[in-house]
Amino acid sequence: MTFRISYKRMRPATHEDSEDSDLLYSKNSSVDESTDIQDDIRPKHTPFAMSEQHSTCATTFKRAKNTRDVDCEPNPLYETFSANASQPLISQLADSRRERVMWIRRLLSAGRDGTVLLRVRQRCSTVWRETHRCSAVVYREHSHDIDTLRMEMLPLPPVKDGSVRIRMLAAPVNPADLNMIQGSYPILCPVPAVGGNEGVGEVLEVGSDVTSLRPGDWVVPVDAGFGTWRTGAVCEEDELMSVPKDISLLGAATVFVNPCTAYRMLSDFQTLAPGCTVIQNASNSAVGQAVVQIAAALGLKTINIIRDRPNCAELVDELQSLGADYVVTEEEVMSSGLHRVFEEVPKPKLGLNCVGGLSGGLVLSNLDYGGTMVTYGGMAKRPLQIPAKSLIFRDVTLKGFWLTQWKRHRKEDKAQLKAMLDAVCDLMRAGQLSTPHCVQTPFQQYTHALRATVQSHRRKHVLIM
Ligand SMILES: NC(=O)c1ccc[n+]([C@@H]2O[C@H](COP(=O)([O-])OP(=O)(O)OC[C@H]3O[C@@H](n4cnc5c(N)ncnc54)[C@H](OP(=O)(O)O)[C@@H]3O)[C@@H](O)[C@H]2O)c1
Repeated sequence: MTFRISYKRMRPATHEDSEDSDLLYSKNSSVDESTDIQDDIRPKHTPFAMSEQHSTCATTFKRAKNTRDVDCEPNPLYETFSANASQPLISQLADSRRERVMWIRRLLSAGRDGTVLLRVRQRCSTVWRETHRCSAVVYREHSHDIDTLRMEMLPLPPVKDGSVRIRMLAAPVNPADLNMIQGSYPILCPVPAVGGNEGVGEVLEVGSDVTSLRPGDWVVPVDAGFGTWRTGAVCEEDELMSVPKDISLLGAATVFVNPCTAYRMLSDFQTLAPGCTVIQNASNSAVGQAVVQIAAALGLKTINIIRDRPNCAELVDELQSLGADYVVTEEEVMSSGLHRVFEEVPKPKLGLNCVGGLSGGLVLSNLDYGGTMVTYGGMAKRPLQIPAKSLIFRDVTLKGFWLTQWKRHRKEDKAQLKAMLDAVCDLMRAGQLSTPHCVQTPFQQYTHALRATVQSHRRKHVLIM
Protein backbone atom coordinates (compact mmCIF):
# COMPACT_ATOMS: atom_id res chain seq x y z
CA MET A 1 0.00 0.00 0.00
CA THR A 2 1.20 3.50 -0.71
CA PHE A 3 0.53 6.08 1.95
CA ARG A 4 0.61 9.70 1.16
CA ILE A 5 2.83 11.20 3.82
CA SER A 6 3.03 14.92 3.97
CA TYR A 7 5.64 16.73 5.97
CA LYS A 8 5.68 20.21 7.31
CA ARG A 9 8.84 21.73 8.69
CA MET A 10 8.51 23.98 11.64
CA ARG A 11 11.39 26.17 12.56
CA PRO A 12 12.30 29.78 13.22
CA ALA A 13 11.74 31.94 10.19
CA THR A 14 14.64 32.99 7.96
CA HIS A 15 14.83 35.38 5.05
CA GLU A 16 14.09 32.51 2.68
CA ASP A 17 10.70 31.89 4.20
CA SER A 18 8.78 34.39 2.18
CA GLU A 19 9.54 32.28 -0.88
CA ASP A 20 8.15 29.14 0.69
CA SER A 21 4.57 30.16 0.57
CA ASP A 22 3.26 26.64 1.01
CA LEU A 23 4.99 26.11 4.34
CA LEU A 24 3.91 27.00 7.81
CA TYR A 25 6.35 27.88 10.53
CA SER A 26 6.03 28.63 14.14
CA LYS A 27 8.42 30.15 16.56
CA ASN A 28 8.95 29.63 20.26
CA SER A 29 6.04 27.32 20.90
CA SER A 30 7.14 24.42 22.99
CA VAL A 31 6.25 20.95 24.04
CA ASP A 32 7.76 18.79 26.68
CA GLU A 33 7.00 15.48 28.30
CA SER A 34 4.09 16.91 30.22
CA THR A 35 2.40 18.46 27.23
CA ASP A 36 -0.74 16.81 26.03
CA ILE A 37 0.49 16.02 22.58
CA GLN A 38 -2.89 14.95 21.32
CA ASP A 39 -4.14 18.47 21.99
CA ASP A 40 -1.09 19.94 20.40
CA ILE A 41 -1.71 18.34 17.09
CA ARG A 42 -4.49 20.38 15.74
CA PRO A 43 -4.98 20.57 12.05
CA LYS A 44 -2.88 22.63 9.68
CA HIS A 45 -2.19 25.73 11.68
CA THR A 46 -1.22 24.02 14.87
CA PRO A 47 2.12 25.42 15.96
CA PHE A 48 4.88 22.95 15.60
CA ALA A 49 6.57 22.18 18.81
CA MET A 50 10.04 23.51 19.47
CA SER A 51 11.92 24.24 22.62
CA GLU A 52 15.35 25.40 23.62
CA GLN A 53 16.26 21.90 24.71
CA HIS A 54 14.84 19.96 21.85
CA SER A 55 12.75 20.49 18.80
CA THR A 56 10.01 18.13 17.78
CA CYS A 57 9.15 17.19 14.24
CA ALA A 58 5.93 15.67 13.11
CA THR A 59 5.13 13.14 10.47
CA THR A 60 1.48 13.10 9.67
CA PHE A 61 0.20 10.35 7.49
CA LYS A 62 -3.02 9.72 5.80
CA ARG A 63 -4.15 6.71 3.90
CA ALA A 64 -4.90 7.30 0.25
CA LYS A 65 -7.34 5.23 -1.78
CA ASN A 66 -6.04 1.99 -3.31
CA THR A 67 -2.95 2.11 -1.18
CA ARG A 68 -0.53 -0.72 -0.69
CA ASP A 69 2.67 0.24 0.93
CA VAL A 70 4.17 2.35 3.67
CA ASP A 71 6.99 4.61 2.66
CA CYS A 72 8.35 6.85 5.32
CA GLU A 73 11.80 8.31 5.64
CA PRO A 74 11.52 11.08 8.14
CA ASN A 75 14.40 13.50 8.52
CA PRO A 76 14.29 15.88 11.45
CA LEU A 77 15.84 18.77 9.55
CA TYR A 78 13.60 18.18 6.66
CA GLU A 79 10.16 17.92 8.06
CA THR A 80 6.88 19.31 7.05
CA PHE A 81 3.64 18.97 8.84
CA SER A 82 0.25 18.93 7.28
CA ALA A 83 -2.73 17.59 9.15
CA ASN A 84 -6.19 17.40 7.81
CA ALA A 85 -8.99 18.60 10.04
CA SER A 86 -11.28 15.80 9.03
CA GLN A 87 -8.75 13.07 9.85
CA PRO A 88 -8.86 11.45 13.26
CA LEU A 89 -5.36 11.89 14.56
CA ILE A 90 -3.46 9.55 16.77
CA SER A 91 -0.21 10.91 18.04
CA GLN A 92 2.91 9.28 19.39
CA LEU A 93 6.16 10.67 20.59
CA ALA A 94 9.26 8.93 19.34
CA ASP A 95 12.84 9.45 20.38
CA SER A 96 14.44 8.21 17.21
CA ARG A 97 13.61 8.03 13.55
CA ARG A 98 13.50 4.28 13.74
CA GLU A 99 11.03 4.50 16.58
CA ARG A 100 8.91 6.94 14.64
CA VAL A 101 8.83 4.69 11.59
CA MET A 102 7.90 1.82 13.87
CA TRP A 103 5.04 3.86 15.29
CA ILE A 104 3.80 4.87 11.89
CA ARG A 105 3.85 1.28 10.70
CA ARG A 106 2.08 0.15 13.84
CA LEU A 107 -0.65 2.77 13.49
CA LEU A 108 -1.06 2.08 9.82
CA SER A 109 -1.30 -1.64 10.29
CA ALA A 110 -4.03 -0.93 12.81
CA GLY A 111 -5.78 0.91 10.00
CA ARG A 112 -5.46 4.35 11.57
CA ASP A 113 -4.30 7.70 10.34
CA GLY A 114 -2.23 9.74 12.68
CA THR A 115 0.75 11.75 13.61
CA VAL A 116 4.05 10.74 15.10
CA LEU A 117 6.25 13.32 16.68
CA LEU A 118 9.98 12.93 16.63
CA ARG A 119 11.82 14.57 19.45
CA VAL A 120 15.10 15.90 18.13
CA ARG A 121 17.71 16.25 20.80
CA GLN A 122 19.32 19.41 19.57
CA ARG A 123 18.96 23.02 20.42
CA CYS A 124 16.87 24.21 17.58
CA SER A 125 18.36 27.68 17.64
CA THR A 126 21.78 26.11 16.99
CA VAL A 127 20.45 23.84 14.30
CA TRP A 128 18.93 26.64 12.31
CA ARG A 129 21.77 29.05 12.70
CA GLU A 130 24.07 26.57 10.98
CA THR A 131 21.74 25.04 8.46
CA HIS A 132 20.19 26.59 5.38
CA ARG A 133 17.63 24.98 3.21
CA CYS A 134 16.23 25.35 -0.24
CA SER A 135 13.14 24.33 -2.15
CA ALA A 136 13.99 22.07 -5.06
CA VAL A 137 12.21 20.15 -7.80
CA VAL A 138 13.32 16.59 -7.11
CA TYR A 139 12.94 13.38 -9.10
CA ARG A 140 13.42 10.11 -7.28
CA GLU A 141 13.16 7.86 -10.32
CA HIS A 142 13.58 8.19 -14.07
CA SER A 143 10.19 8.61 -15.61
CA HIS A 144 8.26 10.28 -18.43
CA ASP A 145 5.55 11.15 -15.92
CA ILE A 146 6.03 14.76 -14.81
CA ASP A 147 3.89 14.09 -11.75
CA THR A 148 6.70 12.00 -10.29
CA LEU A 149 8.64 15.22 -9.68
CA ARG A 150 8.05 16.91 -6.36
CA MET A 151 8.90 20.23 -4.78
CA GLU A 152 10.92 19.27 -1.73
CA MET A 153 12.82 21.08 0.98
CA LEU A 154 16.49 20.18 1.07
CA PRO A 155 19.02 21.01 3.76
CA LEU A 156 22.12 22.81 2.49
CA PRO A 157 25.53 21.98 3.92
CA PRO A 158 27.45 24.74 5.67
CA VAL A 159 29.83 26.80 3.55
CA LYS A 160 33.37 25.47 3.84
CA ASP A 161 36.67 27.15 2.87
CA GLY A 162 36.41 26.48 -0.86
CA SER A 163 32.66 26.53 -1.26
CA VAL A 164 30.01 29.04 -2.13
CA ARG A 165 26.36 29.48 -1.18
CA ILE A 166 24.08 30.87 -3.83
CA ARG A 167 20.44 31.61 -4.27
CA MET A 168 19.06 30.69 -7.65
CA LEU A 169 17.31 33.50 -9.47
CA ALA A 170 16.08 31.94 -12.71
CA ALA A 171 16.46 28.64 -14.56
CA PRO A 172 15.08 27.55 -17.94
CA VAL A 173 13.40 24.26 -18.73
CA ASN A 174 15.36 22.85 -21.67
CA PRO A 175 14.55 19.66 -23.60
CA ALA A 176 17.73 18.01 -22.30
CA ASP A 177 16.51 18.55 -18.71
CA LEU A 178 13.52 16.37 -19.47
CA ASN A 179 15.66 13.75 -21.24
CA MET A 180 17.76 13.57 -18.09
CA ILE A 181 14.68 13.07 -15.91
CA GLN A 182 13.40 10.45 -18.33
CA GLY A 183 16.73 8.63 -18.15
CA SER A 184 17.45 8.94 -21.87
CA TYR A 185 20.29 11.48 -21.71
CA PRO A 186 23.92 10.33 -22.05
CA ILE A 187 24.76 11.64 -18.59
CA LEU A 188 22.42 10.97 -15.71
CA CYS A 189 22.50 12.17 -12.12
CA PRO A 190 22.15 9.56 -9.41
CA VAL A 191 18.60 9.71 -8.09
CA PRO A 192 17.19 11.33 -6.08
CA ALA A 193 18.31 14.36 -8.05
CA VAL A 194 17.30 17.96 -8.56
CA GLY A 195 16.15 18.83 -12.07
CA GLY A 196 17.59 21.52 -14.32
CA ASN A 197 21.02 22.03 -15.82
CA GLU A 198 21.15 25.72 -16.56
CA GLY A 199 20.31 28.91 -14.70
CA VAL A 200 21.66 31.95 -12.95
CA GLY A 201 22.19 32.42 -9.24
CA GLU A 202 23.47 35.12 -6.95
CA VAL A 203 26.37 34.47 -4.57
CA LEU A 204 25.31 34.94 -0.95
CA GLU A 205 28.30 33.62 0.96
CA VAL A 206 31.82 32.46 0.09
CA GLY A 207 34.37 30.39 2.01
CA SER A 208 37.70 31.84 3.11
CA ASP A 209 39.66 30.26 0.21
CA VAL A 210 37.34 31.44 -2.55
CA THR A 211 39.07 33.94 -4.82
CA SER A 212 37.07 34.19 -8.05
CA LEU A 213 33.63 34.96 -6.62
CA ARG A 214 32.20 37.51 -4.20
CA PRO A 215 28.79 37.93 -2.57
CA GLY A 216 26.48 39.66 -5.00
CA ASP A 217 28.06 38.12 -8.14
CA TRP A 218 25.81 36.42 -10.66
CA VAL A 219 26.95 32.90 -11.44
CA VAL A 220 26.10 30.05 -13.79
CA PRO A 221 26.94 26.36 -13.36
CA VAL A 222 29.83 25.23 -15.52
CA ASP A 223 28.77 21.63 -16.04
CA ALA A 224 25.52 19.81 -16.69
CA GLY A 225 23.85 18.04 -13.78
CA PHE A 226 23.97 20.93 -11.31
CA GLY A 227 20.26 20.74 -10.52
CA THR A 228 19.26 24.35 -11.08
CA TRP A 229 15.55 24.03 -10.25
CA ARG A 230 16.07 25.03 -6.64
CA THR A 231 16.04 28.20 -4.59
CA GLY A 232 19.56 27.78 -3.21
CA ALA A 233 22.69 25.66 -3.37
CA VAL A 234 26.07 25.20 -1.77
CA CYS A 235 28.82 24.04 -4.13
CA GLU A 236 32.52 24.28 -4.85
CA GLU A 237 33.85 27.50 -6.33
CA ASP A 238 35.01 25.77 -9.53
CA GLU A 239 31.51 24.50 -10.28
CA LEU A 240 30.49 28.08 -11.05
CA MET A 241 31.48 30.89 -13.34
CA SER A 242 30.52 34.50 -12.91
CA VAL A 243 28.43 36.23 -15.55
CA PRO A 244 28.23 39.98 -16.00
CA LYS A 245 25.32 41.70 -14.32
CA ASP A 246 24.82 44.17 -17.14
CA ILE A 247 22.96 41.62 -19.25
CA SER A 248 19.34 40.81 -18.46
CA LEU A 249 18.43 38.23 -15.83
CA LEU A 250 16.75 36.05 -18.45
CA GLY A 251 19.78 36.47 -20.68
CA ALA A 252 22.08 35.34 -17.88
CA ALA A 253 19.80 32.39 -17.03
CA THR A 254 19.88 31.12 -20.62
CA VAL A 255 23.33 32.18 -21.85
CA PHE A 256 25.54 29.22 -21.13
CA VAL A 257 23.85 26.44 -23.10
CA ASN A 258 21.94 27.48 -26.20
CA PRO A 259 23.69 30.69 -27.36
CA CYS A 260 27.07 29.10 -26.61
CA THR A 261 26.09 26.05 -28.66
CA ALA A 262 25.12 28.30 -31.56
CA TYR A 263 28.35 30.26 -31.19
CA ARG A 264 30.52 27.13 -31.23
CA MET A 265 28.78 25.53 -34.17
CA LEU A 266 29.15 28.69 -36.25
CA SER A 267 32.83 28.97 -35.25
CA ASP A 268 34.26 25.46 -35.20
CA PHE A 269 33.18 23.48 -38.26
CA GLN A 270 33.60 25.59 -41.40
CA THR A 271 35.47 28.76 -42.23
CA LEU A 272 32.61 31.11 -42.93
CA ALA A 273 33.32 34.50 -44.47
CA PRO A 274 30.68 37.23 -44.52
CA GLY A 275 28.21 36.44 -47.28
CA CYS A 276 28.39 32.64 -46.73
CA THR A 277 25.15 30.80 -46.03
CA VAL A 278 24.09 28.60 -43.13
CA ILE A 279 21.00 26.37 -43.23
CA GLN A 280 19.28 25.00 -40.12
CA ASN A 281 16.08 23.29 -38.96
CA ALA A 282 14.08 23.94 -35.74
CA SER A 283 15.08 27.53 -36.40
CA ASN A 284 12.62 28.84 -33.83
CA SER A 285 14.29 26.85 -31.02
CA ALA A 286 16.41 28.78 -28.55
CA VAL A 287 19.55 27.49 -30.28
CA GLY A 288 18.02 28.34 -33.67
CA GLN A 289 17.19 31.90 -32.61
CA ALA A 290 20.77 32.35 -31.38
CA VAL A 291 22.11 30.94 -34.68
CA VAL A 292 20.02 33.47 -36.62
CA GLN A 293 21.31 36.39 -34.57
CA ILE A 294 24.97 35.39 -34.26
CA ALA A 295 25.09 34.58 -37.98
CA ALA A 296 23.60 38.00 -38.78
CA ALA A 297 26.21 39.63 -36.54
CA LEU A 298 28.92 37.77 -38.49
CA GLY A 299 27.47 38.86 -41.83
CA LEU A 300 26.28 35.35 -42.73
CA LYS A 301 23.03 34.56 -44.54
CA THR A 302 20.64 32.08 -42.95
CA ILE A 303 18.07 29.71 -44.41
CA ASN A 304 15.75 28.75 -41.58
CA ILE A 305 13.47 25.71 -41.76
CA ILE A 306 10.54 25.53 -39.33
CA ARG A 307 7.59 23.20 -38.87
CA ASP A 308 4.30 24.42 -40.26
CA ARG A 309 1.78 25.67 -37.69
CA PRO A 310 -1.44 27.68 -37.51
CA ASN A 311 0.32 31.00 -36.79
CA CYS A 312 3.19 30.43 -39.18
CA ALA A 313 3.28 34.00 -40.57
CA GLU A 314 3.72 35.33 -37.04
CA LEU A 315 6.71 33.08 -36.45
CA VAL A 316 8.22 34.01 -39.83
CA ASP A 317 7.95 37.71 -38.89
CA GLU A 318 9.49 37.02 -35.49
CA LEU A 319 12.50 35.21 -36.95
CA GLN A 320 12.95 37.83 -39.65
CA SER A 321 12.93 40.52 -36.98
CA LEU A 322 15.87 38.67 -35.38
CA GLY A 323 17.75 38.80 -38.69
CA ALA A 324 16.68 35.60 -40.49
CA ASP A 325 17.15 35.99 -44.26
CA TYR A 326 14.88 33.14 -45.34
CA VAL A 327 12.28 31.29 -43.31
CA VAL A 328 10.64 28.26 -44.94
CA THR A 329 8.51 25.39 -43.70
CA GLU A 330 9.58 21.77 -44.06
CA GLU A 331 6.63 21.27 -46.41
CA GLU A 332 7.76 24.14 -48.66
CA VAL A 333 11.28 22.74 -48.90
CA MET A 334 9.90 19.30 -49.75
CA SER A 335 7.45 20.55 -52.37
CA SER A 336 9.32 23.42 -54.05
CA GLY A 337 12.93 23.07 -52.97
CA LEU A 338 15.19 26.06 -52.38
CA HIS A 339 16.05 26.87 -56.04
CA ARG A 340 14.78 30.42 -55.78
CA VAL A 341 16.76 31.04 -52.61
CA PHE A 342 19.94 29.79 -54.32
CA GLU A 343 19.44 32.35 -57.08
CA GLU A 344 20.13 34.99 -54.42
CA VAL A 345 22.62 33.42 -52.00
CA PRO A 346 25.31 30.74 -52.29
CA LYS A 347 24.53 27.20 -51.22
CA PRO A 348 25.29 26.66 -47.53
CA LYS A 349 28.68 25.43 -46.40
CA LEU A 350 27.26 24.69 -42.96
CA GLY A 351 24.03 22.93 -41.97
CA LEU A 352 22.78 22.64 -38.39
CA ASN A 353 20.47 19.77 -37.59
CA CYS A 354 18.42 19.86 -34.37
CA VAL A 355 15.68 17.46 -35.47
CA GLY A 356 16.92 14.33 -37.29
CA GLY A 357 14.56 12.22 -39.40
CA LEU A 358 13.31 13.72 -42.63
CA SER A 359 14.06 17.27 -41.50
CA GLY A 360 17.76 16.48 -41.07
CA GLY A 361 17.75 15.10 -44.62
CA LEU A 362 16.36 18.43 -45.89
CA VAL A 363 19.29 20.28 -44.33
CA LEU A 364 21.78 17.77 -45.69
CA SER A 365 20.47 17.64 -49.24
CA ASN A 366 20.70 21.42 -49.62
CA LEU A 367 24.35 21.73 -48.59
CA ASP A 368 27.02 22.94 -50.96
CA TYR A 369 29.77 20.63 -52.26
CA GLY A 370 32.15 19.90 -49.39
CA GLY A 371 29.68 21.25 -46.84
CA THR A 372 29.34 20.05 -43.26
CA MET A 373 26.19 19.16 -41.40
CA VAL A 374 26.44 19.33 -37.62
CA THR A 375 23.82 17.40 -35.69
CA TYR A 376 23.25 18.72 -32.16
CA GLY A 377 19.69 17.59 -31.36
CA GLY A 378 17.28 14.79 -32.16
CA MET A 379 13.92 16.42 -31.49
CA ALA A 380 12.01 14.18 -33.94
CA LYS A 381 13.39 11.10 -32.17
CA ARG A 382 13.77 9.53 -35.63
CA PRO A 383 16.94 8.30 -37.34
CA LEU A 384 18.52 10.79 -39.67
CA GLN A 385 17.53 10.25 -43.33
CA ILE A 386 20.71 10.63 -45.34
CA PRO A 387 20.39 10.85 -49.14
CA ALA A 388 23.23 8.73 -50.59
CA LYS A 389 23.89 11.26 -53.35
CA SER A 390 24.84 13.90 -50.77
CA LEU A 391 27.68 11.69 -49.60
CA ILE A 392 28.72 10.36 -53.00
CA PHE A 393 28.44 13.37 -55.27
CA ARG A 394 28.76 16.33 -52.92
CA ASP A 395 31.31 15.05 -50.44
CA VAL A 396 29.46 16.37 -47.43
CA THR A 397 30.75 15.69 -43.93
CA LEU A 398 28.53 14.67 -41.05
CA LYS A 399 29.58 15.80 -37.61
CA GLY A 400 28.01 15.98 -34.16
CA PHE A 401 28.37 18.57 -31.44
CA TRP A 402 27.72 18.38 -27.71
CA LEU A 403 28.50 21.47 -25.66
CA THR A 404 28.70 19.50 -22.41
CA GLN A 405 31.58 17.47 -23.84
CA TRP A 406 33.22 20.58 -25.28
CA LYS A 407 33.13 22.20 -21.83
CA ARG A 408 34.34 19.07 -20.05
CA HIS A 409 37.36 18.85 -22.35
CA ARG A 410 38.25 22.37 -21.23
CA LYS A 411 37.46 21.91 -17.57
CA GLU A 412 41.01 22.67 -16.51
CA ASP A 413 41.24 25.69 -18.79
CA LYS A 414 38.52 28.02 -17.69
CA ALA A 415 40.02 30.74 -19.93
CA GLN A 416 38.45 29.11 -22.98
CA LEU A 417 35.06 28.87 -21.30
CA LYS A 418 35.34 32.48 -20.21
CA ALA A 419 36.37 33.63 -23.70
CA MET A 420 33.26 31.96 -25.16
CA LEU A 421 30.99 33.37 -22.45
CA ASP A 422 32.50 36.85 -22.89
CA ALA A 423 32.03 36.73 -26.66
CA VAL A 424 28.37 35.77 -26.29
CA CYS A 425 27.76 38.36 -23.56
CA ASP A 426 29.40 41.01 -25.76
CA LEU A 427 26.87 40.20 -28.48
CA MET A 428 24.07 40.55 -25.92
CA ARG A 429 25.39 43.89 -24.69
CA ALA A 430 25.73 45.12 -28.26
CA GLY A 431 22.06 44.31 -28.85
CA GLN A 432 22.99 41.69 -31.46
CA LEU A 433 21.78 38.72 -29.42
CA SER A 434 18.52 38.86 -27.50
CA THR A 435 17.10 36.45 -24.98
CA PRO A 436 14.98 33.75 -26.63
CA HIS A 437 11.26 34.45 -26.63
CA CYS A 438 10.20 32.76 -23.44
CA VAL A 439 7.52 32.51 -20.79
CA GLN A 440 8.52 33.41 -17.24
CA THR A 441 6.96 30.93 -14.83
CA PRO A 442 6.88 31.28 -11.03
CA PHE A 443 8.99 28.51 -9.52
CA GLN A 444 6.02 26.99 -7.68
CA GLN A 445 4.34 26.42 -11.07
CA TYR A 446 7.17 24.24 -12.35
CA THR A 447 4.73 21.50 -13.39
CA HIS A 448 3.11 23.87 -15.85
CA ALA A 449 6.52 24.74 -17.33
CA LEU A 450 7.52 21.09 -17.65
CA ARG A 451 4.25 20.10 -19.29
CA ALA A 452 4.55 22.95 -21.77
CA THR A 453 8.07 21.88 -22.71
CA VAL A 454 6.94 18.54 -24.09
CA GLN A 455 4.33 20.15 -26.31
CA SER A 456 4.79 21.26 -29.93
CA HIS A 457 4.94 24.89 -31.05
CA ARG A 458 5.39 26.36 -27.62
CA ARG A 459 7.75 28.88 -26.10
CA LYS A 460 10.61 28.11 -23.78
CA HIS A 461 9.71 28.42 -20.09
CA VAL A 462 12.05 29.95 -17.56
CA LEU A 463 11.41 29.33 -13.86
CA ILE A 464 11.71 32.45 -11.74
CA MET A 465 12.72 31.62 -8.18
N1 LIG B 1 24.30 19.26 -28.50
C1 LIG B 1 24.31 20.32 -27.69
O1 LIG B 1 25.34 20.73 -27.15
C2 LIG B 1 23.04 21.02 -27.44
C3 LIG B 1 23.01 22.23 -26.75
C4 LIG B 1 21.79 22.89 -26.60
C5 LIG B 1 20.64 22.29 -27.07
N2 LIG B 1 20.72 21.09 -27.67
C6 LIG B 1 19.54 20.42 -28.21
O2 LIG B 1 18.95 21.28 -29.13
C7 LIG B 1 17.57 21.03 -29.18
C8 LIG B 1 16.83 22.35 -29.01
O3 LIG B 1 17.04 22.86 -27.72
P1 LIG B 1 16.40 24.26 -27.33
O4 LIG B 1 16.59 24.50 -25.89
O5 LIG B 1 16.90 25.27 -28.30
O6 LIG B 1 14.89 23.92 -27.66
P2 LIG B 1 13.59 24.78 -27.52
O7 LIG B 1 13.87 26.23 -27.51
O8 LIG B 1 12.83 24.19 -26.41
O9 LIG B 1 12.84 24.43 -28.91
C9 LIG B 1 12.51 23.12 -29.26
C10 LIG B 1 12.54 23.02 -30.78
O10 LIG B 1 12.36 21.68 -31.16
C11 LIG B 1 11.29 21.59 -32.10
N3 LIG B 1 10.59 20.34 -31.92
C12 LIG B 1 9.98 19.92 -30.81
N4 LIG B 1 9.46 18.70 -31.00
C13 LIG B 1 9.76 18.36 -32.27
C14 LIG B 1 9.50 17.21 -33.04
N5 LIG B 1 8.85 16.16 -32.55
N6 LIG B 1 9.94 17.19 -34.31
C15 LIG B 1 10.60 18.25 -34.81
N7 LIG B 1 10.89 19.35 -34.12
C16 LIG B 1 10.47 19.40 -32.85
C17 LIG B 1 10.41 22.77 -31.81
O11 LIG B 1 9.66 23.07 -32.95
P3 LIG B 1 8.11 23.50 -32.86
O12 LIG B 1 8.10 24.92 -32.38
O13 LIG B 1 7.64 23.33 -34.24
O14 LIG B 1 7.45 22.57 -31.88
C18 LIG B 1 11.45 23.82 -31.47
O15 LIG B 1 11.97 24.37 -32.64
C19 LIG B 1 17.28 20.02 -28.08
O16 LIG B 1 17.27 18.73 -28.65
C20 LIG B 1 18.48 20.16 -27.18
O17 LIG B 1 18.73 19.00 -26.44
C21 LIG B 1 21.88 20.45 -27.87
